Amino acid sequence: MKTGIGVFIAAVAAIGLSWCGLVLGPQLQLGGEGITTVLNSTDEYPLQPTGAENLGQQVYRANGCAACHTEQVRQTGVTCELTLTSLGVYKAADFTAFARSLFVLPELAKYTNALADAINGWNGDMPKTILTTPDKTIVEEMANRLKAVGVKFDLRILATGPDISRGWGSRQSVAADYLYAQPVQLGNLRAGPDLANVGVRKPDMNWQLIHLYAPKAVDSSSTMPPFRYLFELRKIGSTPSPDALKLPSEFAPAQGYEVVPTTDAKNLAAYLASLKATVPLYEAPFTPVIAAKP
Ligand code: HEC
Repeated sequence: MKTGIGVFIAAVAAIGLSWCGLVLGPQLQLGGEGITTVLNSTDEYPLQPTGAENLGQQVYRANGCAACHTEQVRQTGVTCELTLTSLGVYKAADFTAFARSLFVLPELAKYTNALADAINGWNGDMPKTILTTPDKTIVEEMANRLKAVGVKFDLRILATGPDISRGWGSRQSVAADYLYAQPVQLGNLRAGPDLANVGVRKPDMNWQLIHLYAPKAVDSSSTMPPFRYLFELRKIGSTPSPDALKLPSEFAPAQGYEVVPTTDAKNLAAYLASLKATVPLYEAPFTPVIAAKP
């Protein structure tokens, strides 16, 4: 029995250390996470979801959507983009001559090819992106030179990475995005696209409902299973339901019948349409595209 106490202490230590790593650590790191503010703005983020969106999240959970879909956008880095918006007093040809005169700068040596490609044969169309690089000092150097000659430009910070180039979001997902997620459904398999920003790509509820009822109706090669039991097949009464799906003839019900979404389907569609992380945050900065003022 001499070793009994040793085994006991080892067991307590193993359980205690695991608890510290799996429960206490994350709690200390993220337990105090709250509403934050959008970068360069006083707007709060994230906004409280509506009742329907909250209920829809439970429908998402109940139907195992997270088995095929993730809700997390990854990012590998950031890049700066320098885009000309006005040449001031210059004509395009004057500007290209000026830009070429900068090729002698040793700090620009690595970028002369890209710069030459951008301005060769350019007819002065705006906006014009002339430099894209993660190297901040080069962009600053270039920006100073352009400022000195009165050329106007936009400097944008963009997130980069495979998920971003697939169009799944404009920045990586961060803890604040999941503040109201109960539970957080990150998912770990991507049989279908990431849904962290599906509300940006597919904001139309009708599209969402038709897709849930018959994925093949919107994408003939879709392998997503249809979720028909979230809909009701009804005989059309004296007046057709205003909610009835407008399906392509191939998927439409028999004459005299209509397909009406249940409350679950509507809540799920509301949840999907609400999935968007479009604002820059301190921990995930980027320059949002703002529609040009008319
Ligand atoms: C067996 C895997 C699988 C399951 C389970 C699944 N999906 Fe999908 N999903 C896919 C595939 C594959 C696609 C891509 C083809 C398409 O658009 O239909 C997709 C596409 C989507 C899209 C369109 C995304 C876009 O960017 O166009 C949405 C929205 C979606 N699924 C929602 C759901 C919801 C909600 C559930 C649960 C009710 C669910 N999926 C369950 C495989 C799945």
